[in-house]
Amino acid sequence: MNVITLNDYEELSKKAARILAGKIELKPDSVLGLPTGGTPLGMYKRLVEYYQKENISFNKITTFNLDEYIDIKPDHPASFNKYMYENLFKHVDIKEENIHIPKGNAEDIQAECIRYEKEISQAGGIDLLVLGIGENGHLAFLEPSDSIPVWTSVVKLSEHTRIANSSDFENIEMVPKKAITMGIKTILSAENIILLASGKNKAWAVEQMIKKDITPQIPATFVKLHEKATILLDKEAAANI
Ligand code: PGA
Repeated sequence: MNVITLNDYEELSKKAARILAGKIELKPDSVLGLPTGGTPLGMYKRLVEYYQKENISFNKITTFNLDEYIDIKPDHPASFNKYMYENLFKHVDIKEENIHIPKGNAEDIQAECIRYEKEISQAGGIDLLVLGIGENGHLAFLEPSDSIPVWTSVVKLSEHTRIANSSDFENIEMVPKKAITMGIKTILSAENIILLASGKNKAWAVEQMIKKDITPQIPATFVKLHEKATILLDKEAAANI
């Protein structure tokens, strides 16, 4: 694992956006794996700026999001679908048909998991996948547990995650209890990975990820199995390492 520590959130966001923009320049038809959450907001903001000012085009780019809540409509204000359009897709020239986000409200959710995996394979696999990390060490919505889903699956959200994400909802009761998420093999099959962590609330999870042996109790430890994973931290997130 290549670990890079930046001064602050601004630098972290810039570095992540530059890595993505560089990939898009080198391979304009790249397949990108994309996260949601507070951490990547700065990265998306910069990518939109690069699109507007620097001729970076998403015209041939394909994207696959990591996860989505179950039983939430795509236009729900807290859906990851909505987040992606608000923060990136509606501002750039990506083609609608090249955007892939798991359908959390699919009638047959098991079939949706299989369909999602198939779409990733049919796209030729993910060239560059961007990840966050949860305060509890989760990866995408792969929560600490005795076992870890291999491929895209339906999972139960931990109370920790539901509380951490509750500000997007009217109250904690409204936060979905389940989600659809890429599995650990889906994630590790990406050719390149970058993982972003910012803030002191992530210092414990980053420490566990780096220092602990691989364990499903800290799903982020699995990133160590990837040969081309780069961890981008700001100073606060790197405080314990
Ligand atoms: P955050 O979420 O960026 O909102 O902290 C990251 C995660 O939960 O994976």
